[in-house]
Amino acid sequence: MMSQDELKRAVAKAAIEYVPVDCIVGVGTGSTANFFIDELAKIKHKIRGAVASSEASAKRLLGHGIEVFSLNDAGSLPVYVDGADEITRHLHMIKGGGGALTREKIVAAASKKFICVCDASKLVDVLGRFPLPVEVIPMARSSVARQLVALGGQPILRQGFTTDNGNIIIDVHGLNIMNPVELEATLDHIAGVVTNGLFARRGADVLLLGTPEGVKTMTV
Ligand code: 5RP
Repeated sequence: MMSQDELKRAVAKAAIEYVPVDCIVGVGTGSTANFFIDELAKIKHKIRGAVASSEASAKRLLGHGIEVFSLNDAGSLPVYVDGADEITRHLHMIKGGGGALTREKIVAAASKKFICVCDASKLVDVLGRFPLPVEVIPMARSSVARQLVALGGQPILRQGFTTDNGNIIIDVHGLNIMNPVELEATLDHIAGVVTNGLFARRGADVLLLGTPEGVKTMTV
């Protein structure tokens, strides 16, 4: 039986196939993205460098001697590789378990292809069992929380956590997300919300799913 880490390593290796020679690659955040960074290190002489979606990933990339570019200097990227907290067969995702959702959404938006790397436990029929992370400007905490309650969720402040952008995260429990594209837009329109963890309007293009039978490739 393969461990979860072995499944993550297998999908991270598979994602390397999607990295064009001589490119700047968009890099996500989290334990699966970390495996990808470690695989990227093995081909670092074949790429120009990376754009990181968090300070943590930037640090790991630099630790491997991979050059880290700011997105403003890199321009449009051919590919973005990142994990997810939940993903559906439509390749809609919940992200932000690690709190990096805003930079992840920005780098993903600037990338032509989003390759999602997950172990099989992340594939779900309906999003929402994993609490939906929402990055919020601190002064809007209470007013945003009230509006999240009005939408049927139970907002819980992520204690002792500040994002790379200096904001807070509210994790919204109890949502059964039947229409992620619509909910993503609704949440984005709440004043004080910076980003929400639904990646549906721009979902993944390819899912590399680590299963005990091998890496499955899924597209929409
Ligand atoms: C971080 C994220 C991660 O992609 C998500 O939390 C998955 O992490 P892991 O690969 O450790 O399960 O969105 O903000």
